Amino acid sequence: MNILILGGGGREHTFAWKLTQSPLCTQLYIAPGNAGTRQHGINVNLSPEDFPALKTFSIDHKIEMVVVGPEAPLVKGVYDFYKNEEELKHIAVIGPSQEAAQLEGSKAFAKKFMHYYRIPTAAYREFTVENIEEGIAYIATQPTPIVLKADGLAAGKGVLILDDIEEAQTEFKAMLNGKFGAASAKVVIEDFLDGIEFSVFALTDGKDYVLLPMAKDYKRIGEDDTGLNTGGMGAVSPVPFVDDALMEKVEERIVEPTIQGLNDSGMVYKGFVFFGLIRVDGEPFVIEYNCRMGDPETEVVLPRLKNDLVELFMATENNTLREHTIEKDSRTATTIMLVSGGYPEAYTKGKVMTGMEKVRDSLLFHAGTKTENGQVLTNGGRVMAITSFGNTIEEALALSNKNAKTIQFEGKNYRRDIGEDLISGQSKKKLKRT
Ligand code: AMP
Ligand code: GLY
Repeated sequence: MNILILGGGGREHTFAWKLTQSPLCTQLYIAPGNAGTRQHGINVNLSPEDFPALKTFSIDHKIEMVVVGPEAPLVKGVYDFYKNEEELKHIAVIGPSQEAAQLEGSKAFAKKFMHYYRIPTAAYREFTVENIEEGIAYIATQPTPIVLKADGLAAGKGVLILDDIEEAQTEFKAMLNGKFGAASAKVVIEDFLDGIEFSVFALTDGKDYVLLPMAKDYKRIGEDDTGLNTGGMGAVSPVPFVDDALMEKVEERIVEPTIQGLNDSGMVYKGFVFFGLIRVDGEPFVIEYNCRMGDPETEVVLPRLKNDLVELFMATENNTLREHTIEKDSRTATTIMLVSGGYPEAYTKGKVMTGMEKVRDSLLFHAGTKTENGQVLTNGGRVMAITSFGNTIEEALALSNKNAKTIQFEGKNYRRDIGEDLISGQSKKKLKRT
Protein backbone atom coordinates (compact mmCIF):
# COMPACT_ATOMS: atom_id res chain seq x y z
CA MET A 1 0.00 0.00 0.00
CA ASN A 2 0.98 3.63 -0.44
CA ILE A 3 1.69 5.28 2.88
CA LEU A 4 2.13 8.98 3.71
CA ILE A 5 3.96 10.01 6.89
CA LEU A 6 3.33 13.55 8.13
CA GLY A 7 6.30 15.24 9.83
CA GLY A 8 10.01 15.65 9.36
CA GLY A 9 11.91 14.83 12.55
CA GLY A 10 13.69 11.90 14.12
CA ARG A 11 10.38 10.30 15.02
CA GLU A 12 9.26 10.36 11.40
CA HIS A 13 12.58 8.99 10.13
CA THR A 14 12.18 6.11 12.58
CA PHE A 15 8.62 5.50 11.33
CA ALA A 16 9.93 5.52 7.74
CA TRP A 17 12.70 3.04 8.64
CA LYS A 18 10.24 0.72 10.38
CA LEU A 19 7.32 0.92 7.94
CA THR A 20 9.50 0.14 4.92
CA GLN A 21 10.60 -3.11 6.58
CA SER A 22 7.04 -4.35 6.00
CA PRO A 23 6.25 -6.18 2.75
CA LEU A 24 2.86 -4.43 2.93
CA CYS A 25 4.42 -1.03 2.23
CA THR A 26 4.82 -0.52 -1.53
CA GLN A 27 5.55 3.19 -1.69
CA LEU A 28 6.31 5.58 1.14
CA TYR A 29 5.99 9.37 1.02
CA ILE A 30 7.07 11.72 3.80
CA ALA A 31 5.77 15.30 4.10
CA PRO A 32 8.07 17.14 4.48
CA GLY A 33 10.67 14.56 5.66
CA ASN A 34 14.42 15.19 6.03
CA ALA A 35 17.73 13.93 4.63
CA GLY A 36 17.21 10.60 6.43
CA THR A 37 13.67 9.83 5.30
CA ARG A 38 14.89 10.09 1.68
CA GLN A 39 16.64 6.76 2.21
CA HIS A 40 13.24 5.09 2.62
CA GLY A 41 10.81 6.98 0.43
CA ILE A 42 10.01 10.16 -1.41
CA ASN A 43 10.05 13.46 0.46
CA VAL A 44 7.16 15.74 -0.44
CA ASN A 45 7.45 19.45 0.16
CA LEU A 46 4.11 19.88 1.93
CA SER A 47 3.21 21.15 5.37
CA PRO A 48 1.44 18.58 7.59
CA GLU A 49 -1.01 21.36 8.43
CA ASP A 50 -1.93 22.26 4.84
CA PHE A 51 -5.00 20.02 4.61
CA PRO A 52 -6.18 21.01 1.10
CA ALA A 53 -2.69 20.27 -0.29
CA LEU A 54 -2.66 16.91 1.53
CA LYS A 55 -6.01 16.12 -0.04
CA THR A 56 -4.78 16.69 -3.59
CA PHE A 57 -1.58 14.76 -2.93
CA SER A 58 -3.42 11.83 -1.32
CA ILE A 59 -5.80 11.50 -4.26
CA ASP A 60 -3.10 11.91 -6.94
CA HIS A 61 -0.78 9.37 -5.29
CA LYS A 62 -3.46 6.85 -4.24
CA ILE A 63 -2.52 7.06 -0.57
CA GLU A 64 -4.12 4.34 1.54
CA MET A 65 -2.68 5.15 4.96
CA VAL A 66 -1.61 8.39 6.65
CA VAL A 67 0.64 8.17 9.71
CA VAL A 68 0.61 11.42 11.67
CA GLY A 69 3.86 12.16 13.53
CA PRO A 70 3.44 15.51 15.34
CA GLU A 71 0.58 16.80 17.48
CA ALA A 72 -0.18 20.06 15.64
CA PRO A 73 -2.07 18.55 12.64
CA LEU A 74 -3.95 16.22 15.01
CA VAL A 75 -5.05 19.05 17.28
CA LYS A 76 -6.01 20.97 14.12
CA GLY A 77 -8.23 18.06 13.05
CA VAL A 78 -6.39 16.16 10.30
CA TYR A 79 -8.16 12.90 11.24
CA ASP A 80 -11.61 14.48 10.87
CA PHE A 81 -10.57 16.23 7.65
CA TYR A 82 -9.82 12.89 5.98
CA LYS A 83 -12.93 11.22 7.37
CA ASN A 84 -15.25 14.05 6.27
CA GLU A 85 -14.09 14.12 2.65
CA GLU A 86 -15.84 11.68 0.31
CA GLU A 87 -12.67 11.05 -1.71
CA LEU A 88 -10.48 10.53 1.38
CA LYS A 89 -12.63 8.69 3.89
CA HIS A 90 -11.38 5.21 2.84
CA ILE A 91 -7.83 6.20 3.88
CA ALA A 92 -6.63 4.86 7.22
CA VAL A 93 -5.44 7.74 9.39
CA ILE A 94 -3.26 6.79 12.36
CA GLY A 95 -4.10 9.36 15.00
CA PRO A 96 -6.98 10.54 17.19
CA SER A 97 -9.93 12.67 16.13
CA GLN A 98 -9.72 16.38 16.88
CA GLU A 99 -11.96 15.95 19.89
CA ALA A 100 -9.76 13.21 21.40
CA ALA A 101 -6.54 15.07 20.52
CA GLN A 102 -7.56 17.56 23.21
CA LEU A 103 -5.98 15.10 25.64
CA GLU A 104 -2.78 16.81 24.50
CA GLY A 105 -4.18 20.04 23.05
CA SER A 106 -5.84 21.21 26.27
CA LYS A 107 -4.40 20.55 29.73
CA ALA A 108 -7.74 21.53 31.28
CA PHE A 109 -9.54 18.97 29.07
CA ALA A 110 -7.04 16.27 30.05
CA LYS A 111 -7.36 17.07 33.76
CA LYS A 112 -11.16 17.01 33.58
CA PHE A 113 -11.02 13.68 31.74
CA MET A 114 -8.70 12.15 34.35
CA HIS A 115 -10.76 13.51 37.19
CA TYR A 116 -13.97 12.10 35.71
CA TYR A 117 -12.49 8.64 35.09
CA ARG A 118 -10.59 8.63 38.41
CA ILE A 119 -7.18 8.35 36.78
CA PRO A 120 -4.41 9.28 39.25
CA THR A 121 -2.91 12.72 38.54
CA ALA A 122 -1.97 15.85 40.52
CA ALA A 123 -4.86 17.83 42.05
CA TYR A 124 -5.56 21.01 40.06
CA ARG A 125 -7.60 24.19 39.53
CA GLU A 126 -8.12 26.08 36.27
CA PHE A 127 -8.31 29.85 35.79
CA THR A 128 -8.96 32.47 33.10
CA VAL A 129 -8.87 36.31 33.22
CA GLU A 130 -12.42 36.10 34.57
CA ASN A 131 -11.20 34.73 37.90
CA ILE A 132 -7.60 35.96 37.87
CA GLU A 133 -7.89 37.44 41.39
CA GLU A 134 -9.11 34.13 42.75
CA GLY A 135 -6.10 32.47 41.11
CA ILE A 136 -3.66 34.91 42.70
CA ALA A 137 -5.21 34.26 46.11
CA TYR A 138 -5.16 30.50 45.46
CA ILE A 139 -1.42 30.55 44.68
CA ALA A 140 -0.78 32.31 48.02
CA THR A 141 -2.29 29.33 49.86
CA GLN A 142 -0.27 26.70 48.00
CA PRO A 143 2.95 24.97 49.04
CA THR A 144 5.91 25.44 46.70
CA PRO A 145 6.97 24.50 44.11
CA ILE A 146 3.94 25.70 42.17
CA VAL A 147 3.19 24.20 38.77
CA LEU A 148 1.61 26.55 36.18
CA LYS A 149 0.52 25.13 32.85
CA ALA A 150 -0.71 26.97 29.77
CA ASP A 151 -3.86 25.14 28.68
CA GLY A 152 -3.00 24.91 24.97
CA LEU A 153 -0.01 23.87 22.85
CA ALA A 154 2.96 26.12 23.58
CA ALA A 155 5.83 24.37 21.78
CA GLY A 156 6.88 22.55 24.96
CA LYS A 157 7.40 25.82 26.85
CA GLY A 158 4.03 26.19 28.53
CA VAL A 159 4.86 24.59 31.88
CA LEU A 160 6.48 26.68 34.62
CA ILE A 161 7.60 25.24 37.94
CA LEU A 162 8.28 28.00 40.46
CA ASP A 163 9.70 28.00 43.98
CA ASP A 164 8.58 31.47 44.90
CA ILE A 165 4.94 32.45 45.53
CA GLU A 166 5.33 36.03 44.29
CA GLU A 167 7.12 34.96 41.14
CA ALA A 168 4.39 32.38 40.55
CA GLN A 169 1.74 35.10 40.88
CA THR A 170 3.61 37.35 38.43
CA GLU A 171 4.02 34.54 35.90
CA PHE A 172 0.41 33.50 36.36
CA LYS A 173 -0.75 37.03 35.49
CA ALA A 174 1.65 37.17 32.52
CA MET A 175 0.31 33.87 31.21
CA LEU A 176 -3.32 34.99 31.41
CA ASN A 177 -2.30 38.25 29.76
CA GLY A 178 -0.97 36.42 26.70
CA LYS A 179 2.57 35.26 27.53
CA PHE A 180 1.93 32.17 25.37
CA GLY A 181 -0.72 33.77 23.19
CA ALA A 182 -4.08 32.00 23.04
CA ALA A 183 -2.47 28.88 24.56
CA SER A 184 -2.37 30.54 27.99
CA ALA A 185 -5.82 32.17 27.91
CA LYS A 186 -6.58 29.43 30.41
CA VAL A 187 -4.04 28.29 33.03
CA VAL A 188 -4.01 25.10 35.04
CA ILE A 189 -2.39 25.24 38.47
CA GLU A 190 -1.54 21.84 39.82
CA ASP A 191 0.18 20.21 42.78
CA PHE A 192 3.84 19.45 42.35
CA LEU A 193 4.59 15.72 42.22
CA ASP A 194 8.01 14.69 43.44
CA GLY A 195 9.23 11.52 41.79
CA ILE A 196 10.89 9.93 38.78
CA GLU A 197 9.38 10.19 35.28
CA PHE A 198 8.92 7.52 32.62
CA SER A 199 6.77 7.09 29.52
CA VAL A 200 4.40 4.37 28.41
CA PHE A 201 2.97 4.10 24.90
CA ALA A 202 -0.24 2.45 23.77
CA LEU A 203 -1.54 1.96 20.26
CA THR A 204 -5.33 1.82 20.32
CA ASP A 205 -8.13 1.19 17.84
CA GLY A 206 -10.46 2.99 20.23
CA LYS A 207 -11.56 -0.14 22.07
CA ASP A 208 -8.53 -2.37 22.55
CA TYR A 209 -4.88 -1.48 22.84
CA VAL A 210 -1.39 -2.91 22.71
CA LEU A 211 1.48 -1.61 24.82
CA LEU A 212 4.73 -0.76 23.08
CA PRO A 213 8.13 -0.79 24.81
CA MET A 214 8.39 1.87 27.54
CA ALA A 215 11.04 4.62 27.62
CA LYS A 216 12.60 7.39 29.65
CA ASP A 217 13.66 10.61 28.01
CA TYR A 218 16.00 13.43 29.04
CA LYS A 219 14.42 16.83 28.49
CA ARG A 220 16.94 19.34 29.83
CA ILE A 221 19.73 20.69 27.64
CA GLY A 222 22.43 20.29 30.28
CA GLU A 223 24.06 17.30 31.91
CA ASP A 224 22.65 16.24 35.30
CA ASP A 225 19.27 17.59 34.13
CA THR A 226 20.21 21.26 34.23
CA GLY A 227 19.33 24.21 31.99
CA LEU A 228 16.43 24.83 29.66
CA ASN A 229 13.86 22.29 28.54
CA THR A 230 14.25 20.88 25.03
CA GLY A 231 12.20 18.52 22.89
CA GLY A 232 14.36 15.71 24.28
CA MET A 233 18.11 15.05 24.30
CA GLY A 234 18.11 11.26 24.50
CA ALA A 235 16.12 8.23 25.57
CA VAL A 236 16.47 4.74 26.98
CA SER A 237 14.20 1.69 26.64
CA PRO A 238 13.33 -0.31 28.71
CA VAL A 239 13.39 1.57 32.03
CA PRO A 240 14.94 -0.59 34.77
CA PHE A 241 13.00 0.88 37.71
CA VAL A 242 9.65 0.16 36.06
CA ASP A 243 9.15 -3.41 37.24
CA ASP A 244 6.18 -5.72 36.59
CA ALA A 245 4.41 -4.61 39.77
CA LEU A 246 4.55 -0.92 38.77
CA MET A 247 3.55 -1.75 35.19
CA GLU A 248 0.53 -3.67 36.49
CA LYS A 249 -0.60 -0.58 38.41
CA VAL A 250 -0.02 1.58 35.31
CA GLU A 251 -2.20 -0.65 33.17
CA GLU A 252 -4.95 -1.13 35.71
CA ARG A 253 -5.20 2.44 37.02
CA ILE A 254 -4.13 4.48 33.99
CA VAL A 255 -4.04 2.78 30.59
CA GLU A 256 -7.25 0.73 30.84
CA PRO A 257 -9.41 3.53 32.29
CA THR A 258 -8.06 5.97 29.69
CA ILE A 259 -8.96 3.75 26.74
CA GLN A 260 -12.27 2.82 28.37
CA GLY A 261 -12.95 6.52 29.05
CA LEU A 262 -12.30 7.47 25.42
CA ASN A 263 -14.59 4.68 24.31
CA ASP A 264 -17.34 5.54 26.82
CA SER A 265 -17.31 9.18 25.85
CA GLY A 266 -17.65 8.25 22.18
CA MET A 267 -14.37 9.85 21.12
CA VAL A 268 -12.76 8.35 18.03
CA TYR A 269 -9.16 7.39 18.64
CA LYS A 270 -7.06 5.30 16.27
CA GLY A 271 -3.49 5.99 17.16
CA PHE A 272 -0.89 6.35 19.85
CA VAL A 273 -1.50 7.44 23.41
CA PHE A 274 1.70 8.63 25.07
CA PHE A 275 1.38 8.50 28.86
CA GLY A 276 3.89 10.83 30.53
CA LEU A 277 4.03 9.29 34.02
CA ILE A 278 5.73 9.87 37.33
CA ARG A 279 6.36 7.38 40.13
CA VAL A 280 5.74 8.90 43.55
CA ASP A 281 6.32 6.61 46.56
CA GLY A 282 5.92 3.58 44.33
CA GLU A 283 2.61 4.75 42.82
CA PRO A 284 2.12 5.92 39.21
CA PHE A 285 0.50 9.30 38.33
CA VAL A 286 -0.15 10.95 34.97
CA ILE A 287 1.88 14.13 34.34
CA GLU A 288 0.54 14.56 30.82
CA TYR A 289 -1.03 12.83 27.85
CA ASN A 290 0.29 13.23 24.33
CA CYS A 291 -1.77 12.11 21.36
CA ARG A 292 1.22 10.89 19.33
CA MET A 293 4.52 9.11 19.81
CA GLY A 294 7.39 10.86 21.60
CA ASP A 295 10.53 12.21 20.00
CA PRO A 296 13.23 10.93 20.76
CA GLU A 297 11.34 8.09 22.52
CA THR A 298 10.28 6.66 19.14
CA GLU A 299 13.95 6.27 18.25
CA VAL A 300 14.32 3.64 21.01
CA VAL A 301 10.78 2.24 21.08
CA LEU A 302 10.36 1.23 17.43
CA PRO A 303 13.80 -0.40 17.09
CA ARG A 304 12.77 -2.72 19.96
CA LEU A 305 9.42 -3.56 18.36
CA LYS A 306 9.55 -6.81 16.41
CA ASN A 307 6.02 -6.72 14.98
CA ASP A 308 5.23 -5.55 11.46
CA LEU A 309 4.11 -1.95 12.08
CA VAL A 310 1.96 -1.74 8.93
CA GLU A 311 0.08 -4.82 10.17
CA LEU A 312 -0.47 -3.16 13.55
CA PHE A 313 -1.72 0.01 11.85
CA MET A 314 -4.10 -2.00 9.65
CA ALA A 315 -5.42 -3.69 12.78
CA THR A 316 -5.86 -0.24 14.33
CA GLU A 317 -7.98 0.78 11.35
CA ASN A 318 -9.95 -2.49 11.30
CA ASN A 319 -10.58 -2.72 15.05
CA THR A 320 -8.63 -5.97 15.37
CA LEU A 321 -5.76 -4.94 17.63
CA ARG A 322 -6.94 -7.45 20.20
CA GLU A 323 -5.70 -10.24 17.91
CA HIS A 324 -2.13 -8.94 18.08
CA THR A 325 0.60 -9.60 20.63
CA ILE A 326 3.54 -7.25 20.87
CA GLU A 327 6.95 -8.84 20.52
CA LYS A 328 9.94 -6.94 21.83
CA ASP A 329 13.67 -7.17 21.45
CA SER A 330 14.82 -7.93 25.00
CA ARG A 331 17.95 -5.83 24.63
CA THR A 332 18.27 -2.23 25.79
CA ALA A 333 18.16 0.58 23.23
CA THR A 334 19.63 4.01 23.91
CA THR A 335 19.58 7.11 21.77
CA ILE A 336 21.67 10.26 22.03
CA MET A 337 20.50 13.40 20.22
CA LEU A 338 23.07 15.60 18.51
CA VAL A 339 21.88 19.21 18.58
CA SER A 340 22.96 22.52 17.06
CA GLY A 341 25.05 24.85 19.25
CA GLY A 342 22.74 27.32 21.00
CA TYR A 343 19.65 25.08 20.93
CA PRO A 344 17.05 25.33 22.50
CA GLU A 345 17.65 29.06 22.06
CA ALA A 346 18.91 30.66 18.82
CA TYR A 347 21.13 28.49 16.61
CA THR A 348 22.41 28.50 13.03
CA LYS A 349 21.41 26.00 10.36
CA GLY A 350 23.17 24.85 7.21
CA LYS A 351 26.30 23.29 8.78
CA VAL A 352 27.88 20.51 6.71
CA MET A 353 27.66 17.10 8.42
CA THR A 354 30.40 14.49 8.00
CA GLY A 355 31.35 11.09 9.36
CA MET A 356 28.03 9.30 8.91
CA GLU A 357 29.62 6.69 6.64
CA LYS A 358 32.10 5.77 9.39
CA VAL A 359 29.37 4.87 11.87
CA ARG A 360 29.20 1.18 12.79
CA ASP A 361 26.79 -0.58 15.14
CA SER A 362 24.31 2.28 15.55
CA LEU A 363 21.19 3.41 13.72
CA LEU A 364 21.20 7.04 12.63
CA PHE A 365 17.81 8.74 12.71
CA HIS A 366 17.92 12.16 11.11
CA ALA A 367 15.95 14.97 12.76
CA GLY A 368 16.80 18.49 11.55
CA THR A 369 18.76 17.68 8.38
CA LYS A 370 18.43 18.35 4.66
CA THR A 371 20.32 17.42 1.51
CA GLU A 372 21.86 20.07 -0.73
CA ASN A 373 24.25 19.43 -3.63
CA GLY A 374 24.83 15.89 -2.40
CA GLN A 375 25.80 17.03 1.10
CA VAL A 376 23.87 16.59 4.33
CA LEU A 377 23.35 19.89 6.16
CA THR A 378 21.94 20.67 9.59
CA ASN A 379 18.46 22.11 9.33
CA GLY A 380 17.11 22.33 12.88
CA GLY A 381 17.88 22.41 16.60
CA ARG A 382 17.75 18.68 17.10
CA VAL A 383 19.86 17.27 14.30
CA MET A 384 20.31 13.51 14.58
CA ALA A 385 19.54 10.68 17.01
CA ILE A 386 22.11 7.90 17.42
CA THR A 387 20.42 4.69 18.53
CA SER A 388 22.28 1.61 19.72
CA PHE A 389 21.49 -1.75 21.24
CA GLY A 390 23.22 -3.48 24.12
CA ASN A 391 22.71 -6.31 26.55
CA THR A 392 23.06 -3.63 29.22
CA ILE A 393 22.49 0.14 29.24
CA GLU A 394 26.27 0.59 29.51
CA GLU A 395 26.89 -1.42 26.34
CA ALA A 396 24.28 0.47 24.34
CA LEU A 397 25.49 3.85 25.63
CA ALA A 398 29.10 3.06 24.80
CA LEU A 399 28.11 2.62 21.14
CA SER A 400 25.87 5.70 21.01
CA ASN A 401 28.59 7.81 22.66
CA LYS A 402 31.30 6.48 20.34
CA ASN A 403 29.27 7.32 17.26
CA ALA A 404 28.20 10.70 18.67
CA LYS A 405 31.89 11.58 18.49
CA THR A 406 32.28 10.20 14.97
CA ILE A 407 29.69 12.50 13.42
CA GLN A 408 30.94 16.04 12.99
CA PHE A 409 29.37 19.42 12.34
CA GLU A 410 30.21 22.90 13.54
CA GLY A 411 28.65 23.68 16.92
CA LYS A 412 27.65 20.06 17.66
CA ASN A 413 26.39 19.57 21.21
CA TYR A 414 25.04 16.53 23.05
CA ARG A 415 24.62 15.20 26.55
CA ARG A 416 27.24 12.72 27.70
CA ASP A 417 25.17 11.55 30.66
CA ILE A 418 22.08 10.07 28.98
CA GLY A 419 20.98 6.95 30.87
CA GLU A 420 23.63 7.22 33.57
CA ASP A 421 21.04 7.69 36.31
CA LEU A 422 19.60 4.29 35.39
CA ILE A 423 22.87 2.44 35.83
CA SER A 424 23.41 0.70 39.16
CA GLY A 425 26.03 2.21 41.53
CA GLN A 426 28.82 -0.28 40.93
CA SER A 427 28.92 -0.13 37.14
CA LYS A 428 28.33 3.63 37.18
CA LYS A 429 31.69 4.16 38.81
CA LYS A 430 33.35 2.29 35.97
CA LEU A 431 31.67 4.37 33.29
CA LYS A 432 34.05 7.04 32.13
CA ARG A 433 32.57 10.15 30.53
CA THR A 434 34.36 10.89 27.31
P1 AMP B 1 4.21 18.64 30.60
O1 AMP B 1 4.33 19.52 29.39
O2 AMP B 1 2.88 18.64 31.25
O3 AMP B 1 4.78 17.28 30.37
O4 AMP B 1 5.26 19.24 31.66
C1 AMP B 1 6.62 19.39 31.35
C2 AMP B 1 7.47 18.85 32.45
O5 AMP B 1 7.18 19.57 33.67
C3 AMP B 1 7.19 17.40 32.82
O6 AMP B 1 7.90 16.50 32.02
C4 AMP B 1 7.63 17.35 34.26
O7 AMP B 1 9.03 17.21 34.34
C5 AMP B 1 7.25 18.71 34.77
N1 AMP B 1 5.93 18.65 35.43
C6 AMP B 1 4.74 18.87 34.86
N2 AMP B 1 3.75 18.75 35.76
C7 AMP B 1 4.32 18.45 36.93
C8 AMP B 1 3.82 18.20 38.25
N3 AMP B 1 2.53 18.26 38.56
N4 AMP B 1 4.72 17.91 39.22
C9 AMP B 1 6.03 17.87 38.94
N5 AMP B 1 6.57 18.09 37.73
C10 AMP B 1 5.72 18.39 36.73
N1 GLY C 1 10.17 13.81 24.17
C1 GLY C 1 8.96 14.32 24.65
C2 GLY C 1 7.88 14.43 23.67
O1 GLY C 1 7.94 13.93 22.56
O2 GLY C 1 6.86 15.02 24.02
